[in-house]
Amino acid sequence: MTMLLLGNTFLFDQNENVSHLGKVLVIYYSYSVNANTEKIAKIIQSLTRANMYKIDLVEPFPDMPHEAFTQRIREEQAKENYPAIKTPNIDISSYDCIFVGGPVWWHTTPLPLTSFLLETDFKGKPVVPFATSESNPREFLEDFAKIAQNARILNGKIFGYVWQDEQIEAKVAQWVKGLQL
Ligand SMILES: Cc1cc2nc3c(=O)[nH]c(=O)nc-3n(C[C@H](O)[C@H](O)[C@H](O)COP(=O)(O)O)c2cc1C
Repeated sequence: MTMLLLGNTFLFDQNENVSHLGKVLVIYYSYSVNANTEKIAKIIQSLTRANMYKIDLVEPFPDMPHEAFTQRIREEQAKENYPAIKTPNIDISSYDCIFVGGPVWWHTTPLPLTSFLLETDFKGKPVVPFATSESNPREFLEDFAKIAQNARILNGKIFGYVWQDEQIEAKVAQWVKGLQL
């Protein structure tokens, strides 16, 4: 715990409230130019001093107009055709709490995050799902919990319209500070 003594007043480190999560890792996937999910990941990092890991594809998605892209994603999802991702160089067992997030794609986890979840063993660690979406997150959290192997799922959260939300830092902080291992 860090404290500063100013006169007779103790000022506590602003991160003190989230040290209860121990050693934290934030794993995320983010796709759009707004990088909404990445923004949430970075706020969590600044609150918890977490290490970060961004899920990356072996072959990037092709550049195509938004409508064509979303249509293609819908088809790939229906076929359960999950893309190859780069092998993550992370040691799950060395963390006390792992945040895992991505954008909602067609009401569920985005393909690269699904790939990651299908090949990851969380070894009984506390896992906190998070997502960003526009309007309709639907089954993201339920689907996440179904496929995250050996994860002890904590209270996940979905954030909407991140890029235009001036209160987003405060909202993320309130949620993170309220989490219990
Ligand atoms: C292929 C695709 C599917 C999407 N499906 C949904 C959806 O079902 N529900 C929703 O609310 N938003 C949906 N969105 C919007 C994204 O979830 C939202 O813009 C998110 O914040 C993007 O995060 P990012 O900037 O980290 O990529 C979709 C976006 C894409 C590209």
